[in-house]
Amino acid sequence: MVELETHRLHWSERESNARTYARGIDRVISKGNLARVYDSNGREYVDCLACAGALPLGHNHPLIQQRVVDFLNSGQLQQALDIATPAKLAFIEQLYRVLPPAFAKHAKIQFCGPSGSDGIEASLKLFKTATGRRSVLVFQGAYHGMTMGSLGMMGNLEPKQAVSGYPAEIQFLPFPYGYRSPFGTNVAETERLSLVYLENLLSDPESGVTKPAMLLVEPIQGEGGCIPVSVEWLIGLRDITARYDVPLVMDEVQTGFGRSGDMFAHEWAGIVPDAIVMSKAIGGGYPLAVMAYHEKYDKWNPGAHAGTFRGNQIALISGAATLEYLQRPGVLEMVRVVGLHLQQRLQTLQDRFSCIGEVRGRGLMLGVELIDPNSEPDALGRPQANGTLAKALKRACLEYGLIIESGGRHGAVMRFLPPLIITANDVDIIIQKFEAALESLWSTSVPNLVAFDHCLPGRSV
Ligand SMILES: Cc1ncc(COP(=O)(O)O)c(C=O)c1O
Repeated sequence: MVELETHRLHWSERESNARTYARGIDRVISKGNLARVYDSNGREYVDCLACAGALPLGHNHPLIQQRVVDFLNSGQLQQALDIATPAKLAFIEQLYRVLPPAFAKHAKIQFCGPSGSDGIEASLKLFKTATGRRSVLVFQGAYHGMTMGSLGMMGNLEPKQAVSGYPAEIQFLPFPYGYRSPFGTNVAETERLSLVYLENLLSDPESGVTKPAMLLVEPIQGEGGCIPVSVEWLIGLRDITARYDVPLVMDEVQTGFGRSGDMFAHEWAGIVPDAIVMSKAIGGGYPLAVMAYHEKYDKWNPGAHAGTFRGNQIALISGAATLEYLQRPGVLEMVRVVGLHLQQRLQTLQDRFSCIGEVRGRGLMLGVELIDPNSEPDALGRPQANGTLAKALKRACLEYGLIIESGGRHGAVMRFLPPLIITANDVDIIIQKFEAALESLWSTSVPNLVAFDHCLPGRSV
């Protein structure tokens, strides 16, 4: 065990400065079982990261394990480009079962290089080709991946700063981030104004933006800070894009496959988009990405979006098993119930800790925005985001046996993204650990907490 840790320290010096999760989780994780992982010293952690949402059934789920082991012993091809194989055909069948029926009726699918970013690149190419247009609309705070096209459509400036050469004519729109409204108004008004803004941009002959090839949106903003939107906003978005003939592309890379309590987060609003980009959970822990789109846009040429590893057969097997599991009666219902339990327990913490500005999200995609209650409030009266506390809290959580990531503006949002199979009992353990970590920091680094008691308890201050 000590040997493994020495190895880790040795090799981490050789790893790129751009490495990410390995910095925060600075230990060797050697085993995993559903929502638990174990380091090389046998310490147990509850996993609230689930490989950034890519493990809906957690680590080593028996169904996935069994299917993969059976497949490995079957003599079937293990890699097959995008050639038809039994694994691919079975996967496609399962995928069409879970796609929203009104969408599935006209859907074509494109297997992409196995990452969400490549699925997004595919959507850029397809809709530019099919519409003959150049510009695209995206939202502030968006995260669509790290390749050049998707990075160009990212809100977060940090990874963009040092790089140039993104696709031209990417137009950012204000996202209805209710807690820190880009319009300085309340949530409902923020949503209304963001739609007014969009419609004005599409109708104004002097908007400066040529007619867009697509509007790309996350139905719950993930890396931007776990920001949900209302049904009304999604319906409004669909309505405007349909009226102005702008293809609406849902980035369901993080929200897809039950994460929000619905199979796809946009389904909540009963709308039908023009395309859905899927990755992460779709492979049940193995790399896979698919873009599905309305057949009327299928105007690109053979080979327009190729890639060697689009037919990872193990991912197709594991993905099909995952989709099958998620369709079982009661599974998504349980995500909603357990998610609500987690949200309510976090809200109870909010009543005790004035460093919690807002608890938000849907299903098992929840965020806790941390604030500095002693800071100068912004125009809306919100205290400043507290990225410093979030960073320390992430570290403290690890020490208490909880793996959790932070994200959002200024890195101030603690993001709860556990496997979808967690139980109410797991939630109670997560809360115990999170609370203990919070208490350890609050009592040491902010001893004069009582001085901030003017912050009203409630869902958001
Ligand atoms: C909404 C969304 N889109 C796209 C991506 C990019 O996916 P990948 O990291 O697999 O390239 C992510 C990754 O977190 C994401 O959350």
